[in-house]
Amino acid sequence: MKRFEGRVSIVTGASQGIGEAIARDLAGAGATVVLADVQREKLEAVAAAIAAAGGRAEAHAVDVADAAAVERTVAAVAAAHKRIDHLVNNAGITRDGLLMRMKDEDWDLVLRVNLTGTFNFSRAVLRTMVAARYGRIVNVASIAGLMGNPGQTNYSASKAGVIAFAKSLAREAGSRGVTVNAVAPGFIETAMTAVLPEEVKAAYLGAIPLRKFGLPKDVSAAVQFLLSEEASYITGQVLSVNGGMYM
Ligand SMILES: NC(=O)c1ccc[n+]([C@@H]2O[C@H](COP(=O)([O-])OP(=O)(O)OC[C@H]3O[C@@H](n4cnc5c(N)ncnc54)[C@H](O)[C@@H]3O)[C@@H](O)[C@H]2O)c1
Repeated sequence: MKRFEGRVSIVTGASQGIGEAIARDLAGAGATVVLADVQREKLEAVAAAIAAAGGRAEAHAVDVADAAAVERTVAAVAAAHKRIDHLVNNAGITRDGLLMRMKDEDWDLVLRVNLTGTFNFSRAVLRTMVAARYGRIVNVASIAGLMGNPGQTNYSASKAGVIAFAKSLAREAGSRGVTVNAVAPGFIETAMTAVLPEEVKAAYLGAIPLRKFGLPKDVSAAVQFLLSEEASYITGQVLSVNGGMYM
């Protein structure tokens, strides 16, 4: 039997990058994967690719920052499947800029998607998880939420927020069989980092003891572990996946 056979997993931000890798790996391990993202067409392509590979996936176009839409999505999933075992809060955005020039909307949007989105989905799934006395929530944080990063006060604050959120919810929900953890990726090769100037990438590379950038599959492997039975005694933790860039 496959590792996640019979499980129902929600992955936000699943239409590309790290979220897509997490969704594909979960489906490959037997889970029914609920893909949630704002990019409807890409999402449907990922769902079709998973199905073509013999997996089970369904696409739900939803903005994680829209609490009512998130409630509707989660209610539909719970009604259809009668269970929600895993939630991976992966959807995230950047709007980088120095603080003195940061616009209100860039602050608000990053906090709304990265932090409030995590709150919206976590609150929505919790009732089903608590009733089942089983659940696993993993927040995709960032190295920036641990060590800070110039030009990313908004992003770093949101990512430190999802770490503290995970620890607090881990304390609230532990007695109900629900674990809540975070992974903190370093520099991972995705669309989010592809836009960075070459000299910035070179500087990052010099600061990484393993002397290479991470791949979405590296983050996915850590997430799969935290969702697994092997991790059942691990809660409120942050697992860094950063090539040693921050220890
Ligand atoms: N790439 C890195 O180096 C890196 C490092 C640390 C942390 N992270 C985190 O990993 C996660 C995934 O990032 P990625 O690198 O794959 O980036 P990405 O931009 O390729 O993917 C992000 C996904 O989130 C989706 N999304 C954005 N806003 C959304 C919203 N409001 N509602 C629903 N979905 C939304 C996007 O459509 C996209 O599919 C993010 O939380 C990011 O902050 C990435």
